[in-house]
Amino acid sequence: MTEPAAQQSVFHGVSAATRAFVERNHRLHIGGDWHDAHDGARLEVFDPATGVAVASVPAAQASDVDRAVAAARDAFEDGEWAHMPPVARERLLLQLADAMEAHADELAEIESLDQGKAVGMARHLDLTMAVDFVRYMAGWATKIDGRTVTPSVPYLPDQTFTGWTRKEPVGVVGAIIPWNFPLLMAAWKIAPALATGCTVVLKPAEETPLTALRFAELIESVGTPAGVVNVVTGEGHAAGAALSGHPGVDKIAFTGSTEVGKRIGKAAVENMTRVSLELGGKSPVIVLDDMDPRAAAQGAAEAIFLNHGQVCTAGSRLYVSQRHYDDVVDGLAGIARGMRLGSGRDPEAQMGPLVSRAQQQRVTDYIASGREQGARIAAGGGAGEGGGYYVEPTILADTNHQMRVVREEIFGPVLTVMPYDDLDDAARLANDSPYGLGASVWSNDLSRVHRLIPKIRAGTVWVNCHNVLDPALPLGGFKQSGIGRELGREVVDLYTETKTVLMSV
Ligand code: NAI
Ligand code: MG
Repeated sequence: MTEPAAQQSVFHGVSAATRAFVERNHRLHIGGDWHDAHDGARLEVFDPATGVAVASVPAAQASDVDRAVAAARDAFEDGEWAHMPPVARERLLLQLADAMEAHADELAEIESLDQGKAVGMARHLDLTMAVDFVRYMAGWATKIDGRTVTPSVPYLPDQTFTGWTRKEPVGVVGAIIPWNFPLLMAAWKIAPALATGCTVVLKPAEETPLTALRFAELIESVGTPAGVVNVVTGEGHAAGAALSGHPGVDKIAFTGSTEVGKRIGKAAVENMTRVSLELGGKSPVIVLDDMDPRAAAQGAAEAIFLNHGQVCTAGSRLYVSQRHYDDVVDGLAGIARGMRLGSGRDPEAQMGPLVSRAQQQRVTDYIASGREQGARIAAGGGAGEGGGYYVEPTILADTNHQMRVVREEIFGPVLTVMPYDDLDDAARLANDSPYGLGASVWSNDLSRVHRLIPKIRAGTVWVNCHNVLDPALPLGGFKQSGIGRELGREVVDLYTETKTVLMSV
């Protein structure tokens, strides 16, 4: 049997199980069943390493979203899920984590084919974090509680009352997620929903719908009742917009661009739908003058190049004290030039392609705008060869805050570097951005580090590391980087309503 060379190279090195899944006839997952979109429309799914279409998924429309929301509503209100005790939800989440672990290699390969990232990175970062987070949320299922209060009610002095609060599941959650960490983002929305007793309609990004569909199968394989987790694949302006404006949805959990986040927030508030938004960033990396320039360059390279720069907290603005500026730029340029681009299935490659042709174009347009506005290209600057969506790791030196490359989120392997004078100058520059998601400070001078931390307007400040996340620590944005905190105990508040009970006794 022969097959086109392109198809062979796409599946080179992946398991038969992965290939069988990717090539399957994918359908929407609604109410425990699999359906085509109402009008039969489909979207192609491309391998970013080659640009070859490997699969297609249904392009859901508003009527498909209606069905999914109705299924989630039914599962929330009646039947097995509505009556399941917390300890049973905990057990379910633990079994789900085990199932994810058992299929981790397959999930990592699907993610690599769909998203472009290295299989090894998907396995060791995305999968590990997703599994750990599901286990972390399993623990919360039995630990969600309210408070008891002894009311005074001063205007009814002759009566006695008792009062307490209950944390109740918010209801049907509409989750809209991006393409940079597809399975992990699905887990970040679905696990808290299951821990708190909610039901979910998940809309994955159109670029990366595949792991969400496999995840839905695993969720049901451990005994989650039908309709608790529904997956509708489709485009943002159609399926995404229908979900965020749906009166039957109680809460929207969104991760993606600030522009779309604002639109979703407006649509949600029309129905008073609860909304949490994890949006864009332009996170500063501040290197103080006690740092070894070589170590600083290494840390800054990791802060920007993780996941090829497609990270909401990517350290995309580097500020280096005048003293080490040239050395750090040289160090970074050397690291960037030495990185080998290649497919996510090539174990020798150090950086894979971007997610899509559109993202590759967007990032190379930003590099061109940096060049036009006077940035010096210390390394990279080009797109890679061939049909894949590659962009070279790029260092833009001598940038300033008038440039678009410094002000706007690029979401690719592009670092802007600027010198600063003193600590106040560093803090001022770090905060001169509409975003406030992450920041990192690199120094072993404790007192200066402590003075800087409160000055930085960002949801997370890392010290001598960057992009490091833990399930128990909240993540979210100041300013235009979003509303609400995911992870940690804070996430429980996003998926629950507080009910006050006051009883005359
Ligand atoms: P996007 O924000 O458009 O996509 C994220 C999700 O929102 C996807 O599931 C998409 O289908 C959905 N969506 C799009 N339009 C919608 C609408 N009108 N109503 C409801 N849902 C909608 O991001 P996109 O276009 O893929 O990337 C553009 C830029 O956004 C990137 O270059 C990057 O700067 C930023 N971005 C930031 C992310 C982050 O984690 N901070 C993640 C993805 C993108
Ligand atoms: Mg978009």
